[in-house]
Amino acid sequence: MSSRLRTHLLATLGVTMSAGCWSPCVSEAKMTTDDTELCLPADTGDADTAGSCPSATDALSMLAADSFACTVVSVHGEGTGADCCYPVTVECHDFSCCAYGRPYVAEGSVRSAEARPGAGWHPAAPMTPDLRGVSADQRRALAAFWTKNMLSEHSSVAGFHRFALDLLAHGAPLDLLLRAQAAIVEEVQHTRMCAALASAYAGAPIEPGPLPMGVAAPIASSLAELAAMTAKEGCVGETLAAWLAESMLRDATDPAVRHVLTRIARDEARHAAIAWATVRWAIEVGGAPVRAAVAAVFATGPGVPAPGDSAAEPGLVAHGFLPDRRLDQLALDGWREVVMPCIAALGALGGDRAAPWAVREELVCSAVAG
Ligand SMILES: [Fe+2]
Ligand SMILES: [Fe+2]
Repeated sequence: MSSRLRTHLLATLGVTMSAGCWSPCVSEAKMTTDDTELCLPADTGDADTAGSCPSATDALSMLAADSFACTVVSVHGEGTGADCCYPVTVECHDFSCCAYGRPYVAEGSVRSAEARPGAGWHPAAPMTPDLRGVSADQRRALAAFWTKNMLSEHSSVAGFHRFALDLLAHGAPLDLLLRAQAAIVEEVQHTRMCAALASAYAGAPIEPGPLPMGVAAPIASSLAELAAMTAKEGCVGETLAAWLAESMLRDATDPAVRHVLTRIARDEARHAAIAWATVRWAIEVGGAPVRAAVAAVFATGPGVPAPGDSAAEPGLVAHGFLPDRRLDQLALDGWREVVMPCIAALGALGGDRAAPWAVREELVCSAVAG
């Protein structure tokens, strides 16, 4: 499904599009409409005249590729017009949040805990941002921002646990399993550091509560599914997480915040590299079906940041804060600057010819490090 079509689907349903939504982020809301008309995207070959459109069945296969946001679930009528437009039923998730990194996704939704009072997750060494000159309103905004980051990192702990189980279930090389296990510990450390910063700005101890896991850990049923999930959550989600942490670090001046962001940016780049290496291995082992599943993920392309004010107060930026709109714009830059070159290097979109496995960890890390 092309980015253009996905944007069209979302606009049809009045869903705001943002780049961050390309990474795993599905709210509880799900919208279904059966009175929508969709036309085949131009790049699939429009009909010159009415009557020469693909059949409804063929149109469904052309339109039904699942994007992260929307799925065409049925085509109930023949195509009409020069653009081959069909009456369709579309199901979309409404994004009310966007998460970067690798949150735990179960039963179609991101799982994250609620924050609660407590210092159980705080690191041994306290995080002490310089609060001189920070207003009460700014402290509230910073506490909310770092609490959100804490919960995202906390969810990533479970995300990597599930990833490690996936690797075990599909016989991945030990090296990948060990690196995934190391990443679990690093996500715990990220959670702890964010909890400490959130608490410092809030003036009261904050920690993550229980994580709502869902009924069962969703282990990938095939190597192709594992590769596709890893492409989405790791190659994109973790790569953009590293890119965004690096972006926040560029503007942050508070020493405590810079310490945290430096650590997170470094670790997330390594996590992204694990994902790229996993996808490379999966394609080498599984061949064409796996490569097709990965290509379908990458082919959805990035989202388009919603218009809006992306400016942030310098006083907040100094403490790492960037508004969601700015993060979305930066994520799009990250897609162009890092994700796309890595996709090219991986050769995942290279059709039937053997992929030139030139992707290396250094490619991600050096690009993210700038
Ligand atoms: Fe993290
Ligand atoms: Fe990570």
